Amino acid sequence: MKYKTFSNLGEDKLPVIGFGCWSIGGEWNNIEDKESIKAIHTALDLGVNFFDTAPVYGKGHSETVLGQALKGKDRESFFIASKCGLVWDENMHVDVNLSRESLIKEIDRSLKRLGVDYLDVWQCHWPDVNTDLKETIEAMEEIKQMGKIRHIGLSNYSMDNLKLANSYGKVASFQGLYNMLEHNPSSYHNIPLTYKAKDEVLPYCEAHGMMFLPYSPLFQGLLTGAFKATGNFDENDKRSENPKLLGDSLKQFLAIVDELKVFANTIEKPLSQIAINWLVNQKAIGPVIAGLDKELYAKDTVASLDWELTPSMQQEIDKILNKYDLDAI
Ligand SMILES: NC(=O)c1ccc[n+]([C@@H]2O[C@H](COP(=O)([O-])OP(=O)(O)OC[C@H]3O[C@@H](n4cnc5c(N)ncnc54)[C@H](OP(=O)(O)O)[C@@H]3O)[C@@H](O)[C@H]2O)c1
Repeated sequence: MKYKTFSNLGEDKLPVIGFGCWSIGGEWNNIEDKESIKAIHTALDLGVNFFDTAPVYGKGHSETVLGQALKGKDRESFFIASKCGLVWDENMHVDVNLSRESLIKEIDRSLKRLGVDYLDVWQCHWPDVNTDLKETIEAMEEIKQMGKIRHIGLSNYSMDNLKLANSYGKVASFQGLYNMLEHNPSSYHNIPLTYKAKDEVLPYCEAHGMMFLPYSPLFQGLLTGAFKATGNFDENDKRSENPKLLGDSLKQFLAIVDELKVFANTIEKPLSQIAINWLVNQKAIGPVIAGLDKELYAKDTVASLDWELTPSMQQEIDKILNKYDLDAI
């Protein structure tokens, strides 16, 4: 494993590859918990000791499975980044709530499901327009003082609100959609995004010692090169709700992927490893939180670190990407 440090996270030596835990919550293809736990253990053996999860992934299931997999392990040997703000009622209806009252309850629920007494990073999952940002960040600082979290993070916030949050407390990380084909994406699953990942947030993170956690580093699997023009998912797979992976958008992205595959063949490396290294190479990028829900994926992804993208390889990739207006697809 290779490691990075970020001044806002103190001495923490963070692995360049992390484990994204959305799919182990059971909302992608019908993944068995036994298989998820095996993948987590394999990942840990390979040095992947940073896990990104959220209460809403499988409505508690992702945190619970991660907690089962980590049970009995030395708490200081791994990092957990979870999230807050998406809460559900008895009818499983999800709402956004980042009020102090809700946060105080939510943290204890997450800690209980995960079987730990603190989180390393606690991230506001999506902005809550009904709660004053000051109330949210001050409540998170209060929960930090209680020792229940070590660092505060934001996910999917606008640059203005990131700056504002940083004036109310100390924000250590930002999580956003960013991968080789989505640089400054304006939407995610039909939800408008109000930040420019590459042009605004990454330079801000670098200047402020924050880490940027890039989500969907493999574009939900598209950057493995295995997708076809249709029929990639079951109907209960959350990815079937991503309009960029359907119809004309998918066709346009597949044309770029085909060009990238030709390049991958010339350097004899899998496209998925190229996509991971493209992120690892960037300074402000923290653990690349890929969905490693199968043992094979954990092994294959960590094997990306057996080689590096050279400047001339980077140039070849840029030559392909620069032909397209990626953010317009
Ligand atoms: N903050 C947010 O709002 C937000 C939003 C989305 C995601 N996230 C976080 O980001 C994490 C990762 O993003 P993601 O799950 O959307 O997508 P991703 O990591 O881009 O893609 C994951 C999928 O790629 C395929 N895959 C992974 N490694 C592979 C390998 N080595 N070889 C072949 N295929 C491989 C698998 O697809 P198949 O199962 O089809 O084989 C896997 O399910 C999530 O788990 C979550 O923690 C956060």
